This record gives sequence, structure tokens and C-alpha cells, in this order.
Amino acid sequence: MTHVTYHKPVLLNEAIRYLVTDPHGIYVDGTLGGGGHSAHILEELSGKGRLFAIDQDDDALRVAAERFADEDRVSLIRGNFGYMDVLLPKDAEENLSGILLDLGVSSHQIDEPGRGFSFQKDGPLDMRMGALQDLTAATIVNEYEYEDLRNLFFEFGEERQSARIARAIIRDRPLETTGQLRDTVASVIPERFLNKSLARIFQALRIAVNSELNMLKRALEKGTALLREEGRFVVITYHSLEDRLCKNYFRYGNFEGKPVKDFYGNDITPLRTLTKKVVSPSVNEVAENPRARSAKLRAAVRHKRGSS
Ligand SMILES: C[S@@+](CC[C@H](N)C(=O)[O-])C[C@H]1O[C@@H](n2cnc3c(N)ncnc32)[C@H](O)[C@@H]1O
Repeated sequence: MTHVTYHKPVLLNEAIRYLVTDPHGIYVDGTLGGGGHSAHILEELSGKGRLFAIDQDDDALRVAAERFADEDRVSLIRGNFGYMDVLLPKDAEENLSGILLDLGVSSHQIDEPGRGFSFQKDGPLDMRMGALQDLTAATIVNEYEYEDLRNLFFEFGEERQSARIARAIIRDRPLETTGQLRDTVASVIPERFLNKSLARIFQALRIAVNSELNMLKRALEKGTALLREEGRFVVITYHSLEDRLCKNYFRYGNFEGKPVKDFYGNDITPLRTLTKKVVSPSVNEVAENPRARSAKLRAAVRHKRGSS
């Protein structure tokens, strides 16, 4: 396994253009993966610049350790980006020039049947992005009560047939593999809708296993507090739930999208959105890399402290 086959970076030039404004600055790549974005950030930095690259997946860290073996400006960190406030050294506090999150799973994680992320390959119902957490998809599928399963598929998968699917899962338990889960879903969903439903069910399980939305919320709040004045936050999302959190946080400073005004009627927010219109990959990029098709990039800048 090398970084060349590990993952093809998405919206690479766009992300770096929004992120890097100071070549001597300190940057965080919260989602190292195959190191595609990290390598490009390093190209833009001077000898004084530094990069902290975080991933919770040991495979990613192994590949990156080889890729960046001769690079002393980068520090690789094993952990969850939601805890970047505790993972980074103290001198990074209020001193970061930019943070990048390229959310979701890497191609390597999807393509490896043993990780259980893909309904197109048979593997164990695992779906953990890293060995740091205990909860697996098998536990959720086999132990959650009907209502919890149904709500999970509805809320995190936006699946309209969540009740039918939850009932079928309870009927067929225990389920051990992605293939068994696929067959169970196929028993209640018509063939022509099956792939879409499977994608939504697998997405919902993955979000729950990895606490993806909670970790994103934490990263947005803690990361913003770590940015220096004029520091940039760039996030690439792959589904509407994470995109909405990001859009609301950048615009309003909260996740519900509620405007908070000062005495004069001005919005009180820690960030100002730079991408008035969300940035999507070009037709060419999607043709070359179909996994980029649902990507959306949003960028924001930290206000001067004392102003909002
Ligand atoms: C889409 S890939 C990133 C690809 C990378 N930008 C590149 O160009 O190769 C997402 C990576 O982020 C990691 N990841 C996702 N959520 C994470 C989290 N909460 N904390 C740490 N790593 C996370 C995954 O393990 C995966 O390796």
C-alpha cells in the first residue's frame, strides 16, 4: 500500500487556495488520509511553516510516515480531530493560520472489505475509522431496539423506508456481515431503489459508529478557538447533514442557524464565510474521480479578536 493508491485528494487546488495565506504559518490537516492535501499544504509553506496532520486510522498514519519520512515541518498525530484542542501543543493555541477537514472515509477504507464500509464487498460489520473506539456497526445492528434503529436510519441516513428496514433487521438478527445486511435490506426494498437505500443505511451506521456529527461540531468550535486572527477554516463535506452544520456554524456561530445579534443588530459570530456560494468539483474532476461527486467545500475566516 502506497500513498499513490491510498486516496485521490478532492478539490485539492481549491482547498489550498482558501487555506494557505501565510507560508510561515502553523496549519492543521485534521484528516490526513493518504496525505494528498497535506503534501500540497507543505509545498506552499516556507522552511518556517509547520503542519500538524491528524488521523484516527493507523493505516493512514503508516502510509504518511513513509511519505513524509524526510519532512521535518510535519508532525503526525494519532487521534480524533474533535479533540484537536488537546492533541495540539500549547503554542498552537490562538496561533493557527488554517485548519482543513476533508470529512468522511478514504478510498482505502472503502475499498478494504475487512473494514466493513462498503455494501459492494462482503466483510464484517465493523465501520470503525480507527481502533480508538469500541462501538462497531455489528453492535448497533444486533443490539439497538426497533425505535432506535428506525430513528438512526431516518436521522442519519434520511431514509424514508427506515421503519421497514429496521423491522427486517430485527427479524433477521443476528447479522454478522455487510453481505447479510445487504440481503436483509434487499428483502424489503425494490431492486431499483436498493443501491440508494443501502448507501443511506451504510452512511447512517458509519455516522453513528464514529460519532461523526458530534466530532465535527466539536472540531468546528474548538478549532475556531485555536485560530489566530484572520486564520482560515476550510471544510470539505460529502453529505447534507455535515454540510448543514458547517454552513450554519460559519454563518451564525451555532449549529441551528439562529442569528445572534448585538445591540446594533450586527451578527455576533466568530467567523466570516468566504465561500458565499458553496464550491463543488468541476465536471472534469468528477469524471476523473467519481467519489468527488458529492463534495462541497466551504471556507471561513476568523474575525479580528474583539470584533464580531
Ligand atoms: C476523505 S479522507 C482524507 C483524505 C486526505 N485529504 C487525502 O488527500 O488523502 C478522510 C480521512 O480522515 C480520517 N478521519 C475522519 N474523521 C476523523 C476524525 N473525527 N478524527 C480523525 N480522523 C478522521 C479518516 O480516517 C480518513 O483517513
